[in-house]
Amino acid sequence: MDSIALVAYILPAYVANSVPVVLGGGRTKIDEGRRWIDGRRLLGEGKTYRGLIAGIACGTLTGAVLAYALPSIFLSGLAFADKLLASFALSVGTMIGDLMGSFVKRRMGLPDGNAAELLDQLSFLPFAVAFAFPFVRPSPADFAVLILITYAAHKAANWLAHQLQLKRVPW
Ligand code: CTP
Ligand code: MG
Repeated sequence: MDSIALVAYILPAYVANSVPVVLGGGRTKIDEGRRWIDGRRLLGEGKTYRGLIAGIACGTLTGAVLAYALPSIFLSGLAFADKLLASFALSVGTMIGDLMGSFVKRRMGLPDGNAAELLDQLSFLPFAVAFAFPFVRPSPADFAVLILITYAAHKAANWLAHQLQLKRVPW
């Protein structure tokens, strides 16, 4: 994929990953306060249904807008309906990957909201790509580029969110 198409392809996942910071929260925690056998929370206070649903909805909507506005750039080989399905798959994969990241962090004994280098920036990416694999198959080189740009973009975005006081911590 050329680099513009690659960025367009992953944009629904980026939106799904960022939106919960703004639209998430609330009392309905996904783990409902339950604990794993190690006595620690399954996922933690930061993972809510509101964030999950908002992420999937906004990620899918982003794909719909891209499919409409940039038909020859966003997943150009696919039919419109498949672009929507791919966007939904990217968004669901993103949210699953984010939950997996939190699950691993809790098993590592990290309190909610503590930073885990690499996990915080990248846990969603392999899941997003894997979920959308029936529709799009980035090459290993594409995936390597995605890792690099995602790491950089995530760092920059969280720094900005912190500056704008959307996030308490800059990660
Ligand atoms: N968020 C949410 N629902 C989700 C994911 C995120 O409501 N499924 C919101 C929460 O308010 C959360 C914030 O977005 O605190 C930041 O998300 P994230 O950094 O993924 O979670 P943390 O709170 O840092 O928790 P963790 O240590 O598990 O990463
Ligand atoms: Mg965090």
